[in-house]
Amino acid sequence: MFTTALPQQTQAFGALPHDLFGAIDALKKDLNAVILAHYYQDPDIQDVADYLGDSLGLSQQAASTNADVIVFAGVHFMAETAKILNPDKLVLLPDLEAGCSLADSCPPAEFAAFKAAHPDHLVVSYINCSAEIKAMSDIICTSSNAVKIVNQIPENQPIIFAPDRNLGRYVMEQTGRDLVLWQGSCIVHETFSEKRLVQLQIEHPDAEIIAHPECEAPVLRHASYIGSTTALLKYSQNSPKQSFIVATEPGIIHQMQKEAPNKRFIPAPGTNNCNCNECPFMRLNTLEKLYLAMKHRQPEITMPEDIRVAALRPIQRMLEMSV
Ligand code: 13P
Ligand code: SF4
Repeated sequence: MFTTALPQQTQAFGALPHDLFGAIDALKKDLNAVILAHYYQDPDIQDVADYLGDSLGLSQQAASTNADVIVFAGVHFMAETAKILNPDKLVLLPDLEAGCSLADSCPPAEFAAFKAAHPDHLVVSYINCSAEIKAMSDIICTSSNAVKIVNQIPENQPIIFAPDRNLGRYVMEQTGRDLVLWQGSCIVHETFSEKRLVQLQIEHPDAEIIAHPECEAPVLRHASYIGSTTALLKYSQNSPKQSFIVATEPGIIHQMQKEAPNKRFIPAPGTNNCNCNECPFMRLNTLEKLYLAMKHRQPEITMPEDIRVAALRPIQRMLEMSV
């Protein structure tokens, strides 16, 4: 999968500075770096970030930054998107093993065959996919603009939607369009249990259920509001309700709680008593690894130039169609 290992990490751990926040700040100035972080990162990483956002916001920041170095605290496809937009900048990912089960559920060779079997179809791909899949796509979308983008495509144009079947089904419901879905999914969002969610709602009758569209239909059916991570955050701030059951990765709760300290946020339960609603890939990044990545200027995101150029076009189309 991903090729580069973290530089001498265990040895370097012994020499970590006491004030990691201060050391990261100093490196940020030395490198003229910007730290972009997703809401599913550990709270410490969220607190050290220059910009915190959902996949669309992070792509827009990556497209407009003047920094020389982008430190991407998220998963591989997110950092890869930043590199596609910024071929001349150094893009660092604290742990190169921070992948994504959803991106992995769409292997390029199989997808090429799927696409060839639907020759007249336009390919709309969710940003949670590899650069190779982006390079085979016509338009990229995120959870915050998928409905808006599909609504801009002429009604007689058949569409393949990849790789997330849950977001795809949600987009079909919202647009009334018939999409050909790639059957991929996210291990985190498929872990939520409808039965335990309903039990939790009975225990907290005043709480509103809010959910990410990567969840399965039986969970989404109970949600008062469905949206991207940024949309869920804004909704919980603006809603008059005082408590919320949050059906997405619980990292977002750090920000929800910061922005509405008097409200209550309850993570939606998984099928077992486990932490499987935490994204194991996102959580591979730590503040220590982020510091070491900046200090050693690696692990760096790289890709073949022909893939980068082919993947850039559908990302640019998304950015144009999102304004
Ligand atoms: P957002 O578009 O809400 O950032 O979703 C990203 C993601 O990975 C959800 O699992
Ligand atoms: Fe991928 Fe799911 Fe983790 Fe998001 S939460 S990065 S879709 S595995």
